[in-house]
Amino acid sequence: MDKKKIKEIIEKTESFVKETFQQEGTGHDWWHTHRVRNLAKRIAREEGADIFIVELAALLHDIGDYKFFQGNEEAGVAKVGEWLSSLEISPLLTDKVVEITSRTSFMHTLLSDKEGNKKNSSALTKELMAVADADRLDAMGAIGIARAFTYGGFFKRPIYDPAIKPNKFITKEEYKTTESPSINHFYEKLLKLKNLMYTNSGWKMAEKRHRFLKLYLKEFFKEWKGKR
Ligand code: ADP
Ligand code: NI
Repeated sequence: MDKKKIKEIIEKTESFVKETFQQEGTGHDWWHTHRVRNLAKRIAREEGADIFIVELAALLHDIGDYKFFQGNEEAGVAKVGEWLSSLEISPLLTDKVVEITSRTSFMHTLLSDKEGNKKNSSALTKELMAVADADRLDAMGAIGIARAFTYGGFFKRPIYDPAIKPNKFITKEEYKTTESPSINHFYEKLLKLKNLMYTNSGWKMAEKRHRFLKLYLKEFFKEWKGKR
């Protein structure tokens, strides 16, 4: 594909995503997508993945999020497919991008009660790994902390409640329906992300962000106990 066509596809997709995410309050705003796109491109460059596929998939990675479709994951996948077919690109490229966006989410690494096993364990491409790592990185570190409390606040969850213990072995169904305080999310998801990184470059960034999460929790509990 020539450069002009690539630029056009990226720009069109960017406007489509910006429009879709207007007024999104759960941490899935345009700026999350913007950061994921930049991180994913950086990882793709370092890992030798196809930059165009990665950029397109990163832009679309949250468009089909189940939260926007009342828990219906298939409807989300269809929405990405519809957008891509409006772009007049090859079916092969469409399939690759749909495959990445439908498998990026952290949720897909969790066991589903219904299936009892991990769905879609087929080989991961470098492009998928770049987008997945970028999405996970944005849930870690200083940004990840901001997003966790934004998400919790949106659903009126408390910051912390010592009586409610985190559920470290959360299943996919529980992840979708949990009502627990935002701090629990650090133990249920955020601190696990470092070990779920696929690429070396992702892992290096994850290490720094992980350290910051741990430091934050240390301070949080000192302050909670009135020791700071
Ligand atoms: P993903 O795109 O990996 O599926 P989610 O859609 O689950 O991520 O989450 C979007 C953002 O909201 C992430 O930063 C995530 O850490 C945060 N989040 C998700 N569930 C909770 C929760 N129960 N409490 C606090 N933050 C959450
Ligand atoms: Ni995302």
